[in-house]
Amino acid sequence: MKKSIAPSLLAADFFDLSSQLELLKKSDIEVLHLDIMDGMFVPSISFGMPVISSLRKSVDFFFDVHMMVENPERYIEDFYKSGANGITIHFEACKHIDRCISLIKSFGLRSGIAINPATPVSFLHNIITEVDMVLIMSVNPGFGGQKFIPYSLDKVRELYKIKTEKNKNLIIQVDGGIGTENIKALSDAGVDEFVAGSSIFKGDILSNITDLRDALGR
Ligand code: DX5
Ligand code: ZN
Repeated sequence: MKKSIAPSLLAADFFDLSSQLELLKKSDIEVLHLDIMDGMFVPSISFGMPVISSLRKSVDFFFDVHMMVENPERYIEDFYKSGANGITIHFEACKHIDRCISLIKSFGLRSGIAINPATPVSFLHNIITEVDMVLIMSVNPGFGGQKFIPYSLDKVRELYKIKTEKNKNLIIQVDGGIGTENIKALSDAGVDEFVAGSSIFKGDILSNITDLRDALGR
């Protein structure tokens, strides 16, 4: 499966978004990761639909919306309308996961389910045949710039095993603390999509992306 790097906009300088997005275009980035935080499921609050709608008018990246939101079913249609291409909900934030995944798919969106570091991969056994993507959080969600939690690597391996048995097309995404020091090991363990905030936006965006790709070995 194709490996891709998905910059997380949360780490960008919001005063000067357009020039940073231009640099991402230059680097042939295809997926833009958009972190939605509600101040309930996670302590922090980020941005919402108006920001996504504005971005949608000027860039055509695949918009990967990561909803760190309690009862996400309340807002799925709104994010669809504002321009999302894929929506990921948290296992821990949703009472009726199966229904919520069906709702995401009913809009023709890529459906994803995320699990927090302490949530076991085995909880996904039933839903894994129904989703397009699983996101293994490698930090506790809520903030950028945190340290990668090492046991996430074992969770990726475990998930990859289930993928080969139950859903070969599943995309495995990882998010939090990703950099040149761990991207290759994660890739070898089975990750397809790497979300990276600080390691892309802090410093020189173009060379940071090149460094990540070099570390990935492609
Ligand atoms: C954390 C967010 C991440 C975050 C990643 O709650 O879901 O997407 O922006 O940022 P870094 O790469 O800095 O850990
Ligand atoms: Zn995220």
